[in-house]
Amino acid sequence: MNKNNLYFNSKYIWHPYDSIVKPLPCYFVSSAKGVHITLQSGVQIIDGMSSWWSAIHGYNHKKLNQALKKQIDHMSHVMFGGFTHKPAISLCKRLLNILPKKLKRIFFCDSGSVSIEIAMKMALQYWKALKIKKNKFLTIRNGYHGDTLFAMSVCDPVNSMHNLYHNVIPKNLFSKQPQISFQEKWNICDIKSFNDNMMKFHHIIAAVILEPIVQGIGNMQFYHSEYLKNIRLICNIYNIPLIIDEIATGFGRTGKLFAFQYSNITPDILCIGKALTGGMLTLSAVITTQKISDIISNNYPYKFMHGPTFMGNPLACAVASKNISILQKGLWKQQVRCIEKYFINNLFLMKNHPRIKEIRVLGAIAVIECYHFVNLKLIQKFFVNHGVWIRPFKNIIYLTPPYIIKKYYLKKMIIAIKYAIQNNRFFIL
Ligand SMILES: Cc1ncc(COP(=O)(O)O)c(C=O)c1O
Repeated sequence: MNKNNLYFNSKYIWHPYDSIVKPLPCYFVSSAKGVHITLQSGVQIIDGMSSWWSAIHGYNHKKLNQALKKQIDHMSHVMFGGFTHKPAISLCKRLLNILPKKLKRIFFCDSGSVSIEIAMKMALQYWKALKIKKNKFLTIRNGYHGDTLFAMSVCDPVNSMHNLYHNVIPKNLFSKQPQISFQEKWNICDIKSFNDNMMKFHHIIAAVILEPIVQGIGNMQFYHSEYLKNIRLICNIYNIPLIIDEIATGFGRTGKLFAFQYSNITPDILCIGKALTGGMLTLSAVITTQKISDIISNNYPYKFMHGPTFMGNPLACAVASKNISILQKGLWKQQVRCIEKYFINNLFLMKNHPRIKEIRVLGAIAVIECYHFVNLKLIQKFFVNHGVWIRPFKNIIYLTPPYIIKKYYLKKMIIAIKYAIQNNRFFIL
């Protein structure tokens, strides 16, 4: 049965970043609870990924399940055009409660990438409303903002899919990647490339967009909080909206509820997704200021031109509200701090290994940057055989476990990584 299903899967179902002709192996999951993922074979593995930054409270969470079950008996979905409902209103209230006061207007959407599209459209429509011609976006190298075409246009122009689609995606502006890391001493020179670009191109820049502090799957670097602070100042000088992409970092992952809080700034447009529903359903949101939303709404065509079918889905909103109420109890701070401490005390012992270029830790994120790319198929199999779910990319082995994880399980993951890095077979030399 399992074999048949895996065969069917490999023949007919396309998986992320994979070939349908020669796909990577897939592991058949039958259930997941807490930090454990149970495979069809009965084997349980420990989750080190939170399903790509989303399942922050672990799987099959009782309160999140209850929120969904309760909502499903009322209604699963109604269109958001012309209708509103309690789950959306409750979620908006909760979001406004935890966000800076300046961020007042919420637009719901379905996924992280789509929220980036919407944020960029908002910036474009804002300038159009002001009758000022600006249509470029300024960002930094090695960023990642999603896989849709407009989002790809602000991903790294070399280390992303840019090359494949270069003739169709819009051309945007890129500053050097920040060099000073989160823990290092700040040096104002780091902002020079960004500042130069801004001086030269501010007349055509519609908005600045970047991930706050942690550059995710670009190459998992953590830059200095002063860098973002300076970006905010420069955007203020040139009166250019700042879009912050908190899709990966939002909801506590870095040790702050939102990573931009390390820099004590407020964005003009904020994108959130992934952990918004505690990893239960797909939902994202774009939140902006009264100034931007009013300028868009008071000028032709007197409305914001976007409206996904599943906008404000009641099930997703209900579970997101519950997720935020769990976060508001505050336990996540202690959990993330414990994970960070464990990573610092145990991972850095490996830092002199000749395979390892650098180890970085921030909040519940650990990054082991190697000199060589991994052989994903082999290293993944090794990790599963060692009872852990870790999915590296390029030369990066990283951990973003659910906040509820216990030290014992972190230890198991670190031991598996220690063994893996000893083995040449798992790397493309
Ligand atoms: C920073 C960032 N922005 C945007 C996205 C895209 O989100 P989604 O995969 O939900 O479209 C991701 C996904 O990994 C991300 O990490």
